[in-house]
Amino acid sequence: MTSSRPRRTELSSRADIDGLVELFYDQAMADPLLAPVFEVLAIVGLDEHLVVVGDFWEQVLFRTTRYEGSFTPVHRALHGKYGLTPERFERWRELWHESVDELFTGVDADRAKSKADAMVTALRRSTTGV
Ligand code: HEM
Repeated sequence: MTSSRPRRTELSSRADIDGLVELFYDQAMADPLLAPVFEVLAIVGLDEHLVVVGDFWEQVLFRTTRYEGSFTPVHRALHGKYGLTPERFERWRELWHESVDELFTGVDADRAKSKADAMVTALRRSTTGV
């Protein structure tokens, strides 16, 4: 390995998910294409939101039953207000992969990426119709 970053570990706990979600949001909120959409979090409240997103991923990856949000309606509303274009979905996907790869390795890190890919496609279709 040529990288000087700390050794990546298995993605295996809620604390790991929280670290991943934090890194992803740091990137997404600074990204020129995504930032205008994520600005809504200044109103909704970033801290509360990160807990909801952590619950979501904990359920997806480790089958807990914490997440009780409304995934599709929330993004439909975002699409109506800001435009969740195919380019924005693709950027979201790239940043998610980069964040996972930066921090983690192993089977569940791979699942975090493949599950996200499937959800990007499904969510893009159900919000934008393409
Ligand atoms: C163009 C792509 C996307 C953008 C710009 C985006 C942005 C956002 C924003 C700004 C919120 C907060 C909305 C609010 O509370 O009013 C949100 C909620 C959320 N997003 Fe996304 N998102 C995208 C795609 C995705 C994808 C592909 C996933 C999952 C794989 C995801 C997971 C979530 C979850 C779990 C919530 C919380 C929903 C709830 O409150 O129950 N997002 N998203």
